[in-house]
Amino acid sequence: MRKLWGGRFEGKTDALIEQLNNSLPFDSRMWRQDIAGSIAHARMLGEVGIITEKESNELRIGLAGLAADLGSGSQELPEDAEDVHTAVEGLLSERLGAVAGKLHTARSRNDQVATDVRLYLRDAIDVLTAELRELQQSLLTIAESHFDTILPGYTHLQHAQPIVLSHHLLAYFWMLDRDRERLSDVRKRVNRSPLGAAALAGTGYPIDRELTANLLGFEEILENSLDAVSDRDFSIEFLSAAAILSMHISRLAEEIVMWNSPEFRFVTLDDAVTTGSSIMPQKKNPDVAELARGKTGRVFGALISLLTLMKGLPLSYNKDMQEDKEPLFDTIDTLRLVIPAMRMTIETAQFNRERMVATLDRDFSTATDLADHLVWQGFTFRDAHDIVGGVVRTCIARGIGLEDLTPDSIAAIEPRLKESADAAIAAVTVTASVSARKSRGGTAPDAVRAQWARAIDRLKSAQSV
Ligand code: ARG
Repeated sequence: MRKLWGGRFEGKTDALIEQLNNSLPFDSRMWRQDIAGSIAHARMLGEVGIITEKESNELRIGLAGLAADLGSGSQELPEDAEDVHTAVEGLLSERLGAVAGKLHTARSRNDQVATDVRLYLRDAIDVLTAELRELQQSLLTIAESHFDTILPGYTHLQHAQPIVLSHHLLAYFWMLDRDRERLSDVRKRVNRSPLGAAALAGTGYPIDRELTANLLGFEEILENSLDAVSDRDFSIEFLSAAAILSMHISRLAEEIVMWNSPEFRFVTLDDAVTTGSSIMPQKKNPDVAELARGKTGRVFGALISLLTLMKGLPLSYNKDMQEDKEPLFDTIDTLRLVIPAMRMTIETAQFNRERMVATLDRDFSTATDLADHLVWQGFTFRDAHDIVGGVVRTCIARGIGLEDLTPDSIAAIEPRLKESADAAIAAVTVTASVSARKSRGGTAPDAVRAQWARAIDRLKSAQSV
């Protein structure tokens, strides 16, 4: 395919150098955005009189036809083109002849590529946002049947206090909700038009940047042509939101891996989301969750790649910036796989209620409740903490748990509990423990139901945005 810059050159580009220089293998996926940008540009050129209305129409009809044929597969992009912009323009000139040569008036590949990436990323953000919403919805659906499923809440991976499973799952709902918020915030800054910045300095043609911005659905126009062609902060911002999102998903994945282990047995994963071992016939491995956790590395890497790519570049466009696309696209592709895969994993998982509550057996995780009980009897929390510490020590020495204590035995261990022994025994059951934590955002089933209702509202209001 003919080079867009051949005129100045006598010799041919070396084949190895072409391989280094060409971006078509990875930027070809932006052909829809490239054509959309060109249609808007052609229309503007006609409306302001830089080309005739007839020429503008011809270009637009030719571009639309090309898009249809690329879409249907009856036309392919020429493999030997330097990049997607060259490929599209080359195909257009095969179809239209000389008039195709007018399309690039008042435009450069520098504003063109920035436009294409912004359009591509805008669409990708919308798709990812929808996927995230579905994952959030699944968490809510599962949470709805587990307001009374009790399991250990951990700190330091030690049993800390009992919680209900809905509470645990809703924690991820809110993390993902902030991820969604971050993406929609990034989208505002992605959705600004660089088109019309031309190579770097703007153009002498009487272009109408508002018109092309409106046609492409951009909300604002980038005010400085140097900035427009030379910053990639919008991609970096997206990648940092993606990195945080991946970190959240990775934590969920890690819990699923752990919960699926024979030591925990909190979940049983479906065959559809597990694989076997080639040597150990008994194995059923939680690969989806492991890969979700593992792929976080490449998403973090993409963020660092782009930050590093950009940090030393002088204004304005530099060819280095062609390297912005692969990490960006890889991140989009990764998340488009991982988010729905994690949704399938949790949707098809069995949560083993009996096992969860059984692990609380004799684990002293309601010791705080005994201390709280003493506070209600008039002790300071410090004294109460001390007293309960002594009770726990005695129980451990006798090989029993708090649940094995009777009003008589607790009064014998700790005379200061004698008067309220019945209430003390009632306070240390796991159901009493969770039910007590009614504070907003706490684990009491009623509080979690209220939180769940807020989460439902939140997701509904997000649907309309
Ligand atoms: N393939 C190039 C990129 O991705 C397009 C812009 C080329 N601009 C140029 N001045 N050579 O950045």
